[in-house]
Amino acid sequence: MWKPMLPTRGSLDMNTSTRVDHENVLWQRKDLLGIEELARHEIEGVLDTAPHFVAVSQRGSGMKKVPLLQGRLVVNWFHEPSTRTRTSFELAAKRLSADTLNIVTSASSEVKGETLDDTLANIEAMHSDIVVIRHANAGVPHLLAARHKSHIINAGDGAHEHPTQALLDAFTIRQHVRKQTGNAEAGLDGVRIAIIGDVAHSRVARSNIWCFTKLGASVTVCAPRTLLPAGVERMGVRVTSSLREALEDVDVIYTLRIQFERQHSMLFPSLREYIKLYRIDAQSLRWAPPHALIMHPGPINRDIELSSEVADGSRSVILEQVSNGVAVRMAVMHLLANKGRPLS
Ligand code: CP
Repeated sequence: MWKPMLPTRGSLDMNTSTRVDHENVLWQRKDLLGIEELARHEIEGVLDTAPHFVAVSQRGSGMKKVPLLQGRLVVNWFHEPSTRTRTSFELAAKRLSADTLNIVTSASSEVKGETLDDTLANIEAMHSDIVVIRHANAGVPHLLAARHKSHIINAGDGAHEHPTQALLDAFTIRQHVRKQTGNAEAGLDGVRIAIIGDVAHSRVARSNIWCFTKLGASVTVCAPRTLLPAGVERMGVRVTSSLREALEDVDVIYTLRIQFERQHSMLFPSLREYIKLYRIDAQSLRWAPPHALIMHPGPINRDIELSSEVADGSRSVILEQVSNGVAVRMAVMHLLANKGRPLS
């Protein structure tokens, strides 16, 4: 199975979750480390909490705050570049009235050799409640979660997982399914989602496959064989290298960035060849039904995996994904820090 090596001691024990009573508590874990270990009801607990925070974000200027994390400290600790995830966690924390700190790795004592454990111990000495971490190595959030008492949120670990991206993507799809069907209770059951592109290097793809399939969606992954990880079929997805086949009868087209920085050699003959066979553009979109949504986690390699015309077109919900990211991250931080309490 396509699965990076992860620490097996501690964090998973601390994160085991029994079936919870939806009336009283939506979340029991200390941390959010990945989607793989979550049960459907835990994912739905986050998705059902997020609309409260969409409403907060839609209030008039000067009123976009709630005191749910007042007096708590949220630390953003990013070891890789980020625009959307870092800013939306910071904004989400501020809208929950938390104090926020950003650690800039290049300006921290990590460059003098301080270990991650020691750095986090020092952050905890200043009474951090939630630590949001992105790291190039798979499993770093899991190791830290096992050894430290702060709530750890994985904001992307290597090519392993990016759980809040999957949650905001599922939330965005659910919003549109509800709008398209007129059913305010509809979920992702039976929704057909095609994930197109560099699946092999994508933590977003892994988290989304777990998330969408746990919610009952039917997922197809499509890429040249060299960009498909061995064993991906065992995650419960249909696999094809034909874009036309992937796009027929889909409700959602989820495009992935080609991660040139994670590829150590060219994995397809040429960029021109990739564009010709796999780019989502006006021409390839003719194979898909007219209602199909266009999604992308960002950042986009414009006119490589996705044409600008389609990225900016009427079917694209890419910026809605970004807006929903704030509400979903508010929901995650509220549930972690406030013992899974539902909002009425
Ligand atoms: N989608 C995503 O993780 O974007 P950033 O790298 O900008 O955070």
